[in-house]
Amino acid sequence: MGISILKFISYFALILLCVFLCSPSVIADGHIKEKPVSYYTQIVPILKRSCQGCHHPGDPNGDLIVTSYDELKRGGMAGEAIISGKPDDSLLIELISGDPPAMPQNQEPLSKEEIDLFRRWILEGAKDDTPADADVMDGENPIYTVPPVISALAYSPDGTSLAVSGVHEVLLYDTKTFEIKARLVGKARRITSIVYADAGKVLGVAGGSPAQFGEIQIWDTATNKLTKAIRSTYDTIYGLSFSPDTKRVAIGSSDKTVRVISITDEKELVKFDNHGDWVFGTVFSTDGSHFVSCSRDTALKLVEVDTGSFVDDVNSSNKGYGEINAIARHPNADQVLSVGEDRIPRLYRMFRQTRRDVGNTDFNLIRAYEAQGGSIDAVAFSADGRKFAVGSSAGEARIYNVADGKRLASMQGDTVGVFALAFHPNGTQLATGGFDGKIRIFDANSGQQLNIFMSVPIETTASEEVTLAVSGMT
Ligand code: HEC
Repeated sequence: MGISILKFISYFALILLCVFLCSPSVIADGHIKEKPVSYYTQIVPILKRSCQGCHHPGDPNGDLIVTSYDELKRGGMAGEAIISGKPDDSLLIELISGDPPAMPQNQEPLSKEEIDLFRRWILEGAKDDTPADADVMDGENPIYTVPPVISALAYSPDGTSLAVSGVHEVLLYDTKTFEIKARLVGKARRITSIVYADAGKVLGVAGGSPAQFGEIQIWDTATNKLTKAIRSTYDTIYGLSFSPDTKRVAIGSSDKTVRVISITDEKELVKFDNHGDWVFGTVFSTDGSHFVSCSRDTALKLVEVDTGSFVDDVNSSNKGYGEINAIARHPNADQVLSVGEDRIPRLYRMFRQTRRDVGNTDFNLIRAYEAQGGSIDAVAFSADGRKFAVGSSAGEARIYNVADGKRLASMQGDTVGVFALAFHPNGTQLATGGFDGKIRIFDANSGQQLNIFMSVPIETTASEEVTLAVSGMT
């Protein structure tokens, strides 16, 4: 008896094992249900392998882009290529299933199983099951063999972290030990802006991969987890800023637009296309009702957020000030500091008090400061709004009094050019970064260099070691 029960159990186990091994199905309600097809794990790999080469944003054949779910769903020249729930009405199915199939054009047709996956995925509603943290690159840290150019820096509002741009990542340094605390790895290759918001609870990052996509990343600073990755435009984006309530972000782009995007639902609220060239910076007014954007077209434009309508030219660009590379808003006033090609930092009031005149006088100008040794790429206010710092292509960083324009300190901030700088929130230190990939920390009062370190861990590859050894021998 004991034996027969054992036998029974083992038979039963065998049957169970067989059910699980022989099919990927799950048993429920006595029916065998097939697991729904996953867009993320099953469809995307096929699109990448067989379709993306001819249907990417750079030059989409038939106007169809398959590199993002939204684009794929939008369809191409002939309209929607996918009709949810209706594979037989979907152009995509028609084109991949003919004999020979029209797509992928001039290439190995998809297998019967792959076509079936597409059919089932569409039949099941063509859903996007991409996980929220899919934009993290397999959790692996990028490896550097050469120093990266530093394009963005930010201190956390509590002063404990310094966030530094790397390639595909933002590195968080402890401001006491200058050791790496965390590496926030994402999909965007280039990082152009790093901004703390919501009293430091949130870290916003903007950048992108050239000619592919622009990306805004929202990180939770308590867990160092990516909570949102919002794609916008097909190129790197610049000049991220948060609305005062931290519900919206504004960005500039190489497609000459400024966009305001609502963070929770990722809706594009404003697409402002009044600039004539790349837009490098955005700032919101203190009440969040307006933003100012700056561009290579030399203009600073004031725009109403709710309507997206152009309100005013803040500067008078007929004065030939040159391309504007960056702007910073005064921490507690509607004033914007603009820097760029003509080497002179200029402080403007955002809202006009005097009517425009025929001569187009630069009426909003509060003060023009000392010219720098090269074009200016970086600008930052101290948290109390009393000082500002600029970094130039002369490799120098300087600190000034906002009120009277007095120069307070001059520092060698990089060997070639300073592209990023940030004040410690208590105003005593200034961090700079630029072409040589090194972070320099200065005493903001004396200008004395307190620390210097490479922004990322650099690995010498075996071949480089060989090269070094060989060159050492000759
Ligand atoms: C070698 C290049 C190439 C590859 C690879 C390729 N396509 Fe295409 N595809 C084209 C071209 C070219 C057109 C435009 C055809 C035309 O206008 O006659 C097109 C058009 C389409 C269209 C119609 C778009 C429209 O609205 O007009 C769909 C759908 C499509 N392709 C799907 C796919 C899928 C799915 C794959 C991968 C399985 C794929 N293609 C791979 C070149 C390619």
